[in-house]
Amino acid sequence: MAWNAACANNGGGLVLVPAIGRFLVLPLLLQGPCNGFIQLQIDGDLLASPDKAFVSGYYWLQIHQVNNLAIHGLGRLVGRGQTAWPYNTCSTDASCTRLPINLIFQSVNIARIRNIKSFHSKSFHFALNGCNDVLFDNVTVIAPSDSPNTDGIHISMSTGITIQNSLIATGDDCISLGPGSHTVNITNVHCGPGHGISIGSLGRYPNESDVSGITVRDTKFYGTMNGVRIKTWSSSYQSVLSNVAFLNLEMHNVNNPIVIDQNYCPHNACQQTKVSESRVQIKDVKYEDIRGSSSIQAAVTFNCSQVAPCQGIVLQNINLTFNGTGSSTSICQNVRGSSFGPQLPPCCF
Ligand SMILES: *[C@@H]1O[C@H](CO)[C@@H](O)[C@H](O)[C@H]1NC(C)=O
Ligand SMILES: *[C@@H]1O[C@H](CO)[C@@H](O)[C@H](O)[C@H]1NC(C)=O
Ligand SMILES: *[C@@H]1O[C@H](CO)[C@@H](O)[C@H](O)[C@H]1NC(C)=O
Ligand SMILES: *[C@@H]1O[C@H](CO)[C@@H](O)[C@H](O)[C@H]1NC(C)=O
Ligand SMILES: *[C@@H]1O[C@H](CO)[C@@H](O)[C@H](O)[C@H]1NC(C)=O
Ligand SMILES: *[C@@H]1O[C@H](CO)[C@@H](O)[C@H](O)[C@H]1NC(C)=O
Repeated sequence: MAWNAACANNGGGLVLVPAIGRFLVLPLLLQGPCNGFIQLQIDGDLLASPDKAFVSGYYWLQIHQVNNLAIHGLGRLVGRGQTAWPYNTCSTDASCTRLPINLIFQSVNIARIRNIKSFHSKSFHFALNGCNDVLFDNVTVIAPSDSPNTDGIHISMSTGITIQNSLIATGDDCISLGPGSHTVNITNVHCGPGHGISIGSLGRYPNESDVSGITVRDTKFYGTMNGVRIKTWSSSYQSVLSNVAFLNLEMHNVNNPIVIDQNYCPHNACQQTKVSESRVQIKDVKYEDIRGSSSIQAAVTFNCSQVAPCQGIVLQNINLTFNGTGSSTSICQNVRGSSFGPQLPPCCF
């Protein structure tokens, strides 16, 4: 009722969740369009239901069709995923149903999200779909390292997204970028534990939108399963990923600091569709000033497609040491590009 009143008010309004409380909130749709700038100030804790009745469903909280939004406050979104994670079957079943996202922004334009904390989401913490011009600043995401599919921020079909000065410690990708992500700027993020920052998976479905203009800079990874990863399915579906820059990144005991995997096909899911070399064209991807330690010897892996080799891959000033016996190595398959400055591991194209 508070949202509807603020949203309907001419000139906008502010919805306040007071600091004095812990509020149980059942799945909630905050619907626009609103009549002005709307602010959501969350100072108290919002708690999702731990009840089994709420383990299915697309979202816990959704903000839909709002232009001109700010979310801030000292409170927390507490997803209480602990009781839901056992129902996640996605590690063995490609057609699993997803658990609810803590907060999804659907068709939201011009939004500033600051200082908010998300805990223990049932699936993704935050997701953006069909959004433009959204800032996440000083956001905190926390979930256990073994919690399934708890991506920090998932972006799809969205343009002009900035994520900065944020801490993401979770069980899946810190940030994942799906089809239709354009002009995304990620700066000064602490990632770990988690699976790193991932572009993809791409090429899973027919007619996916291209992805372009992705920058990740000044970011640190701690013990993550990957650093910066690009992955595409072994499928015949075409799209293009282009104009990507990874700049000034620090890896601390990371499993695959730099990886492109165009043979992604978990639990033989591709056998149900059409097995094929990936037709997602990856081009113009720059890696500059990437340093630190790898927990596996192959610190750099480019497993690109035979039918659509990676093009315009640029490596500049790479210093990734293997935290083990021997020197770090790189793996190259169907990759074309150039390298500048010192290279550890030695560049293999
Ligand atoms: C960042 O958010 C935290 C709350 O999570 C707050 O205490 C802190 O003051 C914020 N920092 C800035 C620079 O706004
Ligand atoms: C990304 O953000 C950084 C820091 O906020 C800024 O310096 C840079 O110009 C931005 N880049 C783009 C492409 O927006
Ligand atoms: C993909 O796009 C083509 C051409 O626009 C269309 O014919 C086809 O039905 C689409 N396939 C799906 C699964 O949407
Ligand atoms: C190497 O790995 C060990 C444990 O596996 C870890 O404690 C140590 O911090 C790592 N060193 C570096 C430089 O990452
Ligand atoms: C790269 O591809 C080969 C097979 O072509 C596979 O054995 C290896 O595990 C892949 N590595 C990664 C990191 O995807
Ligand atoms: C690479 O990093 C190691 C340890 O982090 C350091 O000792 C070495 O000087 C660096 N090499 C270059 C060329 O910067």
